[in-house]
Amino acid sequence: MISDDQHGQAGRTGGVPPAAAPVDPPRVNDYDSIAEAYSRENETGLVNAYYERPAMLALAGDVAGRRILDAGCGSGPLFAALRDRGAAVSGFDASAGMLELARRRLGEDADLQVAALGGPLPYADDTFDDVVASLVMHYLEDWGPALTELRRVLKPGGRLIMSVDHPFAIHGLEYLAGNKTDYFATYDRIEE
Ligand SMILES: C[S@@+](CC[C@H](N)C(=O)[O-])C[C@H]1O[C@@H](n2cnc3c(N)ncnc32)[C@H](O)[C@@H]1O
Repeated sequence: MISDDQHGQAGRTGGVPPAAAPVDPPRVNDYDSIAEAYSRENETGLVNAYYERPAMLALAGDVAGRRILDAGCGSGPLFAALRDRGAAVSGFDASAGMLELARRRLGEDADLQVAALGGPLPYADDTFDDVVASLVMHYLEDWGPALTELRRVLKPGGRLIMSVDHPFAIHGLEYLAGNKTDYFATYDRIEE
């Protein structure tokens, strides 16, 4: 699993003298800095467009008339697909940059908010029929507070539909990059 530290700095500066350290080093899990490129890849890439998103939509089934929260909605491709199928969708993401792209895709009327899983969410109790959390939970080291909060905003009997990166995918990428990783450990990771 990949650890998430939205507010922390990346652990890359070890051994670098303070004078040589970048003024503003990259943050862990900082989607603001990769928003455009990530969104482009997500739009048409094999894993997102042909495998993960169709699987999420298949799990959701007939969503017409359902009230759905897209947690970690990114630039909003799943939000858009659910809305096209007749759901009333709200979305939030920790990255303002990703939400700006979502706003462009979904329009001014879309209910989009900056918020982070793991903290309090800006929705009333028992609001949603479903929560979709597509490729976001693996950024959390501790799932407890996030799941508690999602449970609060779900109606009784509501569904949480989620996908995560397979840990072996990340382990394999690191291995190919020449890094020795512990499959079961948690890491700070910077996407570039
Ligand atoms: C891999 S992208 C997936 C985006 C979108 N769910 C999709 O499937 O197209 C991960 C998203 O999770 C967001 N994210 C990461 N940690 C988060 C957190 N703690 N709370 C909310 N969003 C988070 C990132 O900003 C990014 O937009």
